[in-house]
Amino acid sequence: MKRKDILGIKDLSKSEITEILQTANGFRSVIDGKERRTHLSGKNVATLFYENSTRTRNSFDIAAKTLGASTTGITASTSSVQKGESLIDTGKTLDSLGIDAIVIRHPVGGAPRLLADNVKASVINAGDGMNEHPSQALLDALTAQRHFGDLSGLKLVIVGDIKHSRVARSDALVFTRLGASVTVCGPYTLIPDGIESFGVTVDTDLENAVAGANIIMPLRLQTERMNQAYIPSVEEFHMYYGVGLKHLAMAADDAVVMHPAPINRGAEISGDVADCDRSLIQEQVKNGVAVRMAMLYLLLQGGAK
Ligand code: CP
Repeated sequence: MKRKDILGIKDLSKSEITEILQTANGFRSVIDGKERRTHLSGKNVATLFYENSTRTRNSFDIAAKTLGASTTGITASTSSVQKGESLIDTGKTLDSLGIDAIVIRHPVGGAPRLLADNVKASVINAGDGMNEHPSQALLDALTAQRHFGDLSGLKLVIVGDIKHSRVARSDALVFTRLGASVTVCGPYTLIPDGIESFGVTVDTDLENAVAGANIIMPLRLQTERMNQAYIPSVEEFHMYYGVGLKHLAMAADDAVVMHPAPINRGAEISGDVADCDRSLIQEQVKNGVAVRMAMLYLLLQGGAK
């Protein structure tokens, strides 16, 4: 892969997406066998997180270590960011410390691009504001591909808080690029203006939206990015937009449920759906390590640096 950074799905060509997914698929056996590789021996990877994370930060860390790299974890709450250090100065410091790749999560959309433009290290966007979450979208695509094979002709329904979701945007871009159709569903207040430009169809009726769906993907209410009330109550949100077993029954015969997590049981998803045998949520987590191994491997072994 001839690029220094991965900042969003919108930057990636279809052949780059395919290369990442094929490489990740090959790495699944390494994870399943709890094996180790030495492809990135001598490389240093830093995770720089200005927002909380369980899956993304730890899976990048495990991915780097599985490939033989050293890792450093930096969180905004315990770093010199608390003393007023800017993002660019933090990045330049990581360059001087010999970091080869910086995995950054930031509440401001565009922050990873600003960092990438000012450091020598490769930069991977691990989620920036409401903009993009490319590694999540790639692991979602890998999970769907491993389950269904070709994504072309599949129907993905993303339901819930679309407005504040970087996952919805990145998933819409990657699934449509790979030939699936994407419907976004939620109350009008949580559907952003202009979302159709991502190639999606909008439907505010969940029962209508899930008809014929192969993948139903509920999204949580992202209250950390809300500055006003968008729904009367969580109970009413669940009543109209919470995915339950009845929605799986209304979907295609082969329908599965995926969720980027963290999940909020009783809000966007019922517990029996999250735990049912058609839930791929834990498979997504495993594929997250494989996709992040592929991203690090392709950038640091074959990259433009
Ligand atoms: N899906 C996701 O980004 O999860 P984390 O916030 O736990 O990283």
